[in-house]
Amino acid sequence: MKCGVEEAYAKINLTLDILGVRPDGYHEMDMVMQSVSLSDTVTLSLEDELGVRVTSNREDLPQDRKNLAVDAALHFWEVNGKKEQGLAISIHKRIPVCAGTAGGSSDAAAVLRGLNRLTGAGLSQSALMELGSLVGSDVPYCIMGGTARATGRGEILTPLTSLPDCFIVLCKPNFSVSTPELFRQWDQKIPDQRPNTPNMLDALLKGNLTGVANELYNVFEAVLPPDEQTEVRLIRKLLCAEGALGASMSGTGPTVFGLFDQRELAEQAVSKLKTRYAHVFLTRPV
Ligand code: C5P
Repeated sequence: MKCGVEEAYAKINLTLDILGVRPDGYHEMDMVMQSVSLSDTVTLSLEDELGVRVTSNREDLPQDRKNLAVDAALHFWEVNGKKEQGLAISIHKRIPVCAGTAGGSSDAAAVLRGLNRLTGAGLSQSALMELGSLVGSDVPYCIMGGTARATGRGEILTPLTSLPDCFIVLCKPNFSVSTPELFRQWDQKIPDQRPNTPNMLDALLKGNLTGVANELYNVFEAVLPPDEQTEVRLIRKLLCAEGALGASMSGTGPTVFGLFDQRELAEQAVSKLKTRYAHVFLTRPV
């Protein structure tokens, strides 16, 4: 039995902008993404018994193709022309689900990377990313990781100068957001305020963490329902009061993150937030 282990890292959006609706119904995105050290551990075992089986420390994960990890494995067999094999996927989840931090997409990316290694298929990173785009718009980025600009549906990626090392506190409030629903809200009420992506790119190029922190912005925050928007704003304010250089919501939320240049301040922020929220993490850029 062949086995492999992959770490599936969470991501945050340093910026998230929507440029318009595309003829295919998807939205044209412009985002600056960053992977962080919070991760799920994905273990793959090739087995004799046919089919894809998933186990996890979280019992509510779907066992079928609705689970992006399963969908990724099935796409790998289909597109790669390899005879379908038996596969057991074990996911140790630490990334909260439905949190705007690409947990499911990252697990799918880990499955594609792992299967490529285990089966000796030898697909290039760009071929794997193309395969990932069939599974979901964020999966190609999760295959690549690091600091990158994502355009198109999110699948066109340009690597950027790495975010300077720092401490990133993530806090997920206790509600979930539906991605298609939030896109619909944006369609109905296009927000005026937008991120300044060129300024963000310039701050990254200069290795200026304060500059990056000043340019954090996500257009989805303005289209959240009012109560949820209030909660997200409150967490941003709490993070900044604890010394974050800047704070913003990630993806379609509701996770909020703050960038810190001092570990001590980041740890204090984690302690304070943990008195109110269940899902709080101290991470680093990876
Ligand atoms: O690509 P993915 O399956 O992750 O997208 C989930 C949903 O998010 C899509 O069905 C669509 O409603 C919305 N979406 C979008 N534009 C994008 C990415 C996602 O409208 N660029």
